[in-house]
Amino acid sequence: MIQERVGILGLGSYLPPKILTNHDLEKIVDTTDEWIQTRTGIRERRIAEKGTATSDLAAEAARRALNDAKLEPTEIDLIICATTSPDMFFPATACLIQRKIEAKCPAFDISAACSGFPYALGVSNGLIRAGTYRHILVVAGEVISAFLNWKDRSTCVLFGDGAGACVLGPARPNGNVILSTFLGSDGTQADLLKIPAGGSAIPPTKESIESGLHYIQMEGSEVFKSAVRTMGDAVIEVVKRAGLNVEDIDCLIPHQANLRILNAVADRVNLPAEKVYVNLDRYGNMSAASTAVALDEAASNGAIHKGSLVVLVAFGSGFTWAATAIRW
Ligand code: ACO
Repeated sequence: MIQERVGILGLGSYLPPKILTNHDLEKIVDTTDEWIQTRTGIRERRIAEKGTATSDLAAEAARRALNDAKLEPTEIDLIICATTSPDMFFPATACLIQRKIEAKCPAFDISAACSGFPYALGVSNGLIRAGTYRHILVVAGEVISAFLNWKDRSTCVLFGDGAGACVLGPARPNGNVILSTFLGSDGTQADLLKIPAGGSAIPPTKESIESGLHYIQMEGSEVFKSAVRTMGDAVIEVVKRAGLNVEDIDCLIPHQANLRILNAVADRVNLPAEKVYVNLDRYGNMSAASTAVALDEAASNGAIHKGSLVVLVAFGSGFTWAATAIRW
């Protein structure tokens, strides 16, 4: 049956307890709390213990979202995991989450880096509206610390680990509704943000590991400029698709990469900074998990409430970018 309206039926998140502050990082690389705070806005981030994989964080976030939605794992018809830091090349992390939460349904991963959560919301919205699946569990999880070069101060200070999840389904009476979605990508910019080795292009060798090619590499200032432009344009496009204007937005939940990026996006679309949700000071950039965790937080701490127009927007490696407009 074609569904007119899809809603978020439940939300959950899980952050590993271990906190790594900027002062802790001062002891690891040549950096300062002052540099990190003024250039990024980040004060601290969570780091998963050794032996904890993305699916561990993601499964806990998924359990919390199911509990919030008042649904059993067996009532889920599809699991989509968005991650930049999968447990392994294959099987998909979504399959490992399925095993951990004891669900019985198809499961696959989406690889859209930091844009993974709104990418998965866009795909899920289409599948539910088409009547293909009724309840979809979207989980965005990262143990990105496993892919950081802890000797590279230009990247290791930026990221953190965590997971967020939501259950999507036919909108409930008086519940929130997804109004519109938007996905974008530009593969010509692929080299600006990547992990070069470990795949079929550069299989892992002693040399590739000694050269650090299995770690995240980034052209920070180029990424910065594209993030501001594409996220700004995505916000404008997704509200247009909903038949609304930027002034109608009550809460913008952007990918939490850098406070200066968030402020520049708000400026670009003419949105007051106080409408922009920020938690990167506590968690850093959790890649795909950033917008998922921020949405869960904003829904539970009063930053969004019944009737709010909420817009999620993200940008990441690929380049990819995506946005979702939700009437709460
Ligand atoms: N501590 C101290 N100094 C540092 C550090 C550090 N942690 N990192 C870099 N520096 C130095 C650089 O070496 C440079 O020194 P130099 O002038 O002597 O060469 C100086 O600081 C300035 O470096 P810039 O790169 O110009 O600093 P910038 O103001 O651009 O900030 C940053 C760098 C924070 C990385 C910024 O460019 C940024 O946030 N970019 C976007 C990153 C991002 O969002 N990435 C994730 C995208 S999503 C995904 O898919 C993962």
